[in-house]
Amino acid sequence: MDKKQRSIIVYSSPAGRTRHVAVVIKTVLDDMGCLPEIFDLGEKEDCQRLESAQKSFAIGDCLWIGSPVYTYHALPAVTEFIAKLSLNRGGFAVPFVTWGAVSSGLALYEMGRQLEDKGYHIAGAAKIAAQHSMLWQVKNPLGYGRPDSRDDGLIADLVKKVYAKINSNEVEGYPLEKLNYQPGPAQKAMQEMNLEKARPMFPKIEADKDLCSKCGACEKVCPVHAIRCSPYPRIDDKCIFCFNCVRLCEENAFKIDLSPLGDRLRNMAKENNEYPLSKTFV
Ligand SMILES: Cc1cc2nc3c(=O)[nH]c(=O)nc-3n(C[C@H](O)[C@H](O)[C@H](O)COP(=O)(O)O)c2cc1C
Repeated sequence: MDKKQRSIIVYSSPAGRTRHVAVVIKTVLDDMGCLPEIFDLGEKEDCQRLESAQKSFAIGDCLWIGSPVYTYHALPAVTEFIAKLSLNRGGFAVPFVTWGAVSSGLALYEMGRQLEDKGYHIAGAAKIAAQHSMLWQVKNPLGYGRPDSRDDGLIADLVKKVYAKINSNEVEGYPLEKLNYQPGPAQKAMQEMNLEKARPMFPKIEADKDLCSKCGACEKVCPVHAIRCSPYPRIDDKCIFCFNCVRLCEENAFKIDLSPLGDRLRNMAKENNEYPLSKTFV
């Protein structure tokens, strides 16, 4: 590397697929000698470190920012993080999303727009297919086995192209409109739907007191700190329905079966017919 810009990777990843992509980015950057810093928005300590790190984001630095797609959009933790960034005219940013093969929605475009409003040049972007995180109880879920080694290869290629671009002093950002790839008629419905509006459609997450061992594991795996165990878990409105508490409870105390959703989401995926599943933009 002939340039001394910092590389910062920030992500939210309740079920681990976006983290996988973030770690691939980090590994490639490590191999290139870039020494990236990496932050998980679900970890309190990382958020504290990030707060001081972001004060010194500078011209030429590159921010990699990743989110899963939830009801067509990026997670609030990610959009709120971008909203709080200081203006950095001349910084570079690469938004990336993982999605469960139903629809990658508007997340990438909206993240890109937010970053441009903060002065960042979009140096590239990626949407990467991933196993749908609501479907762990279903056999052969949507996105099964993704991201796979080919996805990892796409990401590695993106990282190298982005750094070649930055080092060639090409300051022209990637045209944002190209991230606005959803067909017109679908866009309006996607704009109108979000996690808040979907809230009443999700099952109530409540532990069965006869099964709950009061171990507190659910509180620890909640990425948005929405659970307090005193001694039984109580879940507040910060819940984003990642279902980590349900999926990771050793006693199966939440007794929620999401498998009936499998067919509905599969039909939605067929209707949307979004291909290719994984794509980089650079
Ligand atoms: C509440 C919720 C909403 C989701 N909405 C979408 C969606 O709109 N489109 C889609 O393709 N996948 C959707 N997914 C699947 C996730 O985007 C996908 O599994 C992602 O890779 C999860 O990332 P993570 O493993 O980093 O948490 C949703 C998952 C959850 C839990």
